[in-house]
Amino acid sequence: MGNDNKPLNHLAIIMDGNGRWAKKRHLPRFMGHRQGMDNIRKIALEANRLGIKVLTLYAFSTENWARPSDEVNYLMRLPIDFFDKFMPELQENNVRVNIMGFSDNLPEKTYEVTQKAIKQTASNTGMVLNFAFNYGSRAEIVNAVQKIAKKVQDGEINASQIDEQMVSDNLLTENLKPYTDPDLLIRTSGEERLSNFMLWQLAYSEFEFTDKFWPDFTVDDLDKMIADYQKRERRFGKV
Ligand code: FPP
Repeated sequence: MGNDNKPLNHLAIIMDGNGRWAKKRHLPRFMGHRQGMDNIRKIALEANRLGIKVLTLYAFSTENWARPSDEVNYLMRLPIDFFDKFMPELQENNVRVNIMGFSDNLPEKTYEVTQKAIKQTASNTGMVLNFAFNYGSRAEIVNAVQKIAKKVQDGEINASQIDEQMVSDNLLTENLKPYTDPDLLIRTSGEERLSNFMLWQLAYSEFEFTDKFWPDFTVDDLDKMIADYQKRERRFGKV
């Protein structure tokens, strides 16, 4: 979307503040996550309508396992509920699902449901809805370094051949090519930090923050942030 100077192909969102949204209403934290899950629908449909190619959502980090087990279990159920509820609409809108993260230690049911969603939508040609689920950027980079080191060890490449493209090609965003790097990152709930999210890929991205908690973040808020982003000048280090 946008003009040639200001493409918005890849939008990434750190959906923060579910717990505080619930607390403010004297509700249990899981109700905030439930409301947050429902909010994904509206925002994803709007992003799709705007012609965005990839929408990446930070849904569960490698650090989130340290939360109380009740909450972890609830978060692991959300993909099951989400695809159960919204798969028909994703299909109608030609949305393709992708999961970015370390899927090997997910509970079996969660793993199965995510794989099924990927398969069911594999031939869709619209927006990629990319869930960062059990994702952590440092682990992702370590994983890439190990894969590249193995190639050097096996004599497939020389260390001097390692370049930015090769590192990028070994990250978990490789299958989002050519839209591996977000143009714009949004974080809700007033926190202004990256929390181990897409450290490599966000090198030249624009950032937008709002005090609103994720369940309160509206299509109108999204449209305003995008309009603001379109006014900015991205120079990628050049003058
Ligand atoms: C951050 O809020 C949010 C999360 C850790 C979970 C985000 C997940 C969703 C919105 C739903 C995911 C849905 C699918 C389909 C995978 P927080 O709990 O850190 O809030 P707090 O900072 O206010 O405590």
